[in-house]
Amino acid sequence: MLCQPSTSSLTVLAPAKLNLFLRVVRRRDDGFHDLETAMTSVNVFDTLVFDPSEKPEISLRVVMATTRRQNSQTPDPLPAGADNLVVRAAHLLNEYASTNFGVRITLVKRIPSAAGMGGGSSDAAATLAGLNRLWNLGLKRAELLDLAARLGSDIGFFLGESSLAVCRGRGEMVEPLRLPLSLHFVIARPASGLSTPEVFKHCRPNEMGSSVDQFVESLRRGDIGRTVRLLLNDLQPPAEILNDDVRRLREKFNALPVLGHQMSGSGTSYFGICASSRHAAMIAARLRAAGVPWVHVARSCS
Ligand code: C5P
Repeated sequence: MLCQPSTSSLTVLAPAKLNLFLRVVRRRDDGFHDLETAMTSVNVFDTLVFDPSEKPEISLRVVMATTRRQNSQTPDPLPAGADNLVVRAAHLLNEYASTNFGVRITLVKRIPSAAGMGGGSSDAAATLAGLNRLWNLGLKRAELLDLAARLGSDIGFFLGESSLAVCRGRGEMVEPLRLPLSLHFVIARPASGLSTPEVFKHCRPNEMGSSVDQFVESLRRGDIGRTVRLLLNDLQPPAEILNDDVRRLREKFNALPVLGHQMSGSGTSYFGICASSRHAAMIAARLRAAGVPWVHVARSCS
């Protein structure tokens, strides 16, 4: 996450994430699932601008970014009301710090919603970190991580300084990985999205599956051939059953010369791993020509 302070306002760039490995270990009694996941942040960013307000009010304006390269499809509209994770994060901070500060927040959305790319979670993490600074609250990282876990399972990942991490528990236990990793991706998102609770409801725990440690070991060795063979997302089979667009994307990627491919998170975004940014641009052009509405060339954040 990149913070750019100006005289009074603060601008924060909130990155998207991709799940390179996601094993659903077991269903828990509280309705959540224990996971083992390896996530990387990628250089697709939402922008949040925080303007201090004299009034003790939290307001949010959501602006959908359009980009020249996309086939005029913007991400789905997002609610800007009290349900938005950004607004909830701001209120939670005020409550925790026993303060009553106000702020005007402008959120420029580039990360598609309902895509498994962590856009809402990253925006919430940016809000916790950004307002901690704007309001001079002085909260420590451990306190922000605790607040993040109260808001959602993968928000803590975006508070970390490392762009790559293994997350366990329901996703909130973050173990940063310091690897000199630079992966090139092409990311595609169909017109439709998927609801995370719905996908989890239909998933099957994979108790005997390969462990995230093996996956991380192959990343550590820079063995891209083994890494792509070990790609896993246990949420992909239920997502494909619930949404035909995901199955169609898998079939499209199967016919393309990428190193490896899979769905991210609970979908519907789908990524291919490429050998270089040029390779990713070539695959992106083919996906756009095939009518995929949102296609992005990205790389893992450093
Ligand atoms: O924590 P978050 O709000 O992101 O989770 C959304 C929903 O996804 C949860 O209410 C739950 O149904 C499901 N989920 C799960 N196991 C996880 C994370 C999320 O079952 N580890």
